[in-house]
Amino acid sequence: MEQISGFSRLSKGQKIHWLCKQMNLDLSKLLDQYKFDPSVQKILDEFTENSISNFPLPYSIAPNFLIDEKIYCVPMVIEESSVVAAASHGAKFWMTRGGFTTQILGTTKRGHLHFFYRDDFSKLNLAFEEIKPKLLDSLKPLISNMEKRGGGIKSIKLLDRTDEAPHFYQWEFDFETCDAMGANFINSVLEFCAQYLKDHLKNNFDFDIILSILTNYTPQSVVEVTAQCRMSELGSVDGCSAMEFAERMLAASQIAQVDISRAVTHNKGIMNGVDAVVMATGNDYRAVEASAHAFAARSGKYQGLSKVILEEDKFIFQMQLPLALGTVGGITGLHPLTKLSLQILKNPNAKELMSIVASVGLAQNFSAMRSLVTTGIQKGHMKMHLLNILQQLGANEKQIIAAKQYFKDRVVSFQSVREFLL
Ligand code: MEV
Repeated sequence: MEQISGFSRLSKGQKIHWLCKQMNLDLSKLLDQYKFDPSVQKILDEFTENSISNFPLPYSIAPNFLIDEKIYCVPMVIEESSVVAAASHGAKFWMTRGGFTTQILGTTKRGHLHFFYRDDFSKLNLAFEEIKPKLLDSLKPLISNMEKRGGGIKSIKLLDRTDEAPHFYQWEFDFETCDAMGANFINSVLEFCAQYLKDHLKNNFDFDIILSILTNYTPQSVVEVTAQCRMSELGSVDGCSAMEFAERMLAASQIAQVDISRAVTHNKGIMNGVDAVVMATGNDYRAVEASAHAFAARSGKYQGLSKVILEEDKFIFQMQLPLALGTVGGITGLHPLTKLSLQILKNPNAKELMSIVASVGLAQNFSAMRSLVTTGIQKGHMKMHLLNILQQLGANEKQIIAAKQYFKDRVVSFQSVREFLL
């Protein structure tokens, strides 16, 4: 490939032409296949720079989610074949056992001005406290809309971090961003404050603000989700008695508490469900992922996010999950399908969306653990895998029906399916 400068300034056609030339291939037909009509395409193209086409992923529905006494059909965007089926199974299992109940433990978002300062800190602190009311006054135009919606800045604290790094301090800002995820709002406020402090304190104090940025770690914006029933209500599960199933689930949950290898995979299963809904609603799954994994390590040891608790006669499955989600702002109101997702979810506010996303994560985790402690996961996975392989090999309808029957109790591999089709 040649190096190119000014790629972003080329038209879409020129970008495709350049790429085709580099690859010595005509890609235009393929890329054209995934083009939308101009009005939708314009919206998508404006999301990012250098867009040359679209990348389709399946848009699926997991029905039967009973969450805080409301029934939801949940839209999910994910390519992994077993995830929607697992979420749906988990939802259905719990629907007849009281569903998922949630509690929002907090919605505070946070951001920092990270700075270095080598002089008398108490003097800077005093000057900051003096200037704070004027700073808050100057911020009014930027935050008045958010305040009207019930949000804004909740607190500003000066933190001494010099124990961890020489001369390192932070101005720590806590925010309420209501139904917005808040990244743009928070970063705008922080950059305004950094400039204000430079303009008004810098003459007398030699501090150096290195970064002004929100943190995606949101342990103050957390939802707790619980699914619970009497032990006897579990019934027999995949050949296990209720008690045996409950004990195996407890053991699996304990393994994820003590072993990082299992904890990461356990949490990956949770995030299968979480990310798919986060994607379908146009939220930032990278932020959600980063926060969830940091939260999983908050004790100093990386652990499973969910837990099984056996209490007297009760089977309790519970998880706390940090989530920074929006139902307004970002692409939520722009992408035609995120708008549809929110509509399917009955236009939730951000707190309701936190409850839905966490419930799907827990349902997903329940189904994965259920399979793992009973039949193993390959049985379910292979059904979908078989269909993918058959599709790749161009099998016709008759061959698909025959293959499904043949592979009911046989091991599926690309090779074995190819041999079957011969
Ligand atoms: C696969 O995407 C997810 C699982 O590995 C999760 C788990 O092991 O709990 C099945």
